[in-house]
Amino acid sequence: MSFSILGTGSALPSRVVTNEDLSLLVDTSDEWIKTRTGITERRVCTEESITELAVQAAQKALEDSGCSADELDLIICATMSADYTTPSMACVLQMQLGASCPAFDINAACTGFLYALDVAAGYFARTADQKILVVAAEAMSRLVDWQDRGTCVLFGDGAGAAVLGKGNDLLAIQTGAKGNISSLYAENGWGNSPFHKQAEGDVASGCSSYLHMDGQEVFRFAVTSMVQTVEQVLDEAGLAKEDIAWLIPHQANIRILDSAISRLKLPKEKCLTNIAVRGNTSAACVAILLDEASRGGKLKKNDLLALTAFGGGLTTGACILRWSR
Ligand code: UT7
Repeated sequence: MSFSILGTGSALPSRVVTNEDLSLLVDTSDEWIKTRTGITERRVCTEESITELAVQAAQKALEDSGCSADELDLIICATMSADYTTPSMACVLQMQLGASCPAFDINAACTGFLYALDVAAGYFARTADQKILVVAAEAMSRLVDWQDRGTCVLFGDGAGAAVLGKGNDLLAIQTGAKGNISSLYAENGWGNSPFHKQAEGDVASGCSSYLHMDGQEVFRFAVTSMVQTVEQVLDEAGLAKEDIAWLIPHQANIRILDSAISRLKLPKEKCLTNIAVRGNTSAACVAILLDEASRGGKLKKNDLLALTAFGGGLTTGACILRWSR
């Protein structure tokens, strides 16, 4: 017994930020961003809060599933850029949706949606839970340094959600982590503690709270881990690559996807992507892409989907899902 996806939803800020817009902020160009990343534009929060987008995505997923908020047994949010450190985004969502179930956030950076699915599968196996809402929502515009051309051109904001019901469609799932600070991190400050002393030689000491990234190191990790994790979950499910109808990967860089697909020897047409218009929305990428593929009519009943993501941590995750809707 695992789960089935009963409905999906997503929500984006209304403001489109193009590569041209960014070339007015930092020393970059449409040509560089497009050829090095595959991104043309992304959505960025202006007046919307990330909680509002999470609520909208959740409401659409509930509507799509035919479930009401009071039927939910659990809410899990995957985020590292919530409006509050406490309460969790999931608790705010619970209040705004009118649900009454337990609710908590998890942070696995860009792999958050996959981790949340894994946690949900555990709840279904261990409890009498019937319906779980998983939301992945990120305001990356809050974390990036808008003066750093190496990162600000990559990210976008958005939210994706899925309502899960007890079922048998999760055929395999794996999550992993390779403890690492230096490749990708954003440090929390010490507030105004009069007792805090900055340690000399501290990896991140003295740095701003913005996102710092060693792009090339993450790139190498991304390609290797995408290939390995997809092969592992296929193995676990007793399936071959040819059985996959759609690969639904994290959207970090089109060159990462091209490289991973070619190593996996999968036809390019089987890899879904929206990076050109969404950028990298961290944990929300896979959830948004899944919803757009569902609403766009791409997914057919009994299609086998391979979801995969990687991110800060360094975390990885992949799963095989049967689309039974
Ligand atoms: O969700 C997970 C998070 N992140 C990722 O998965 C990111 C993985 N990494 C990447 O996608 C790529 O490494 C980047 C897109 C970040 C960078 O692409 P790259 O091909 O690895 O470029 P690079 O870092 O080797 O930089 C090449 C040049 C450098 O200039 P010099 O030193 O050769 O003169 C950079 O300063 O490109 C320069 N550069 C830019 N130029 C114009 C870096 N960013 C920009 C920019 N516009 N936005």
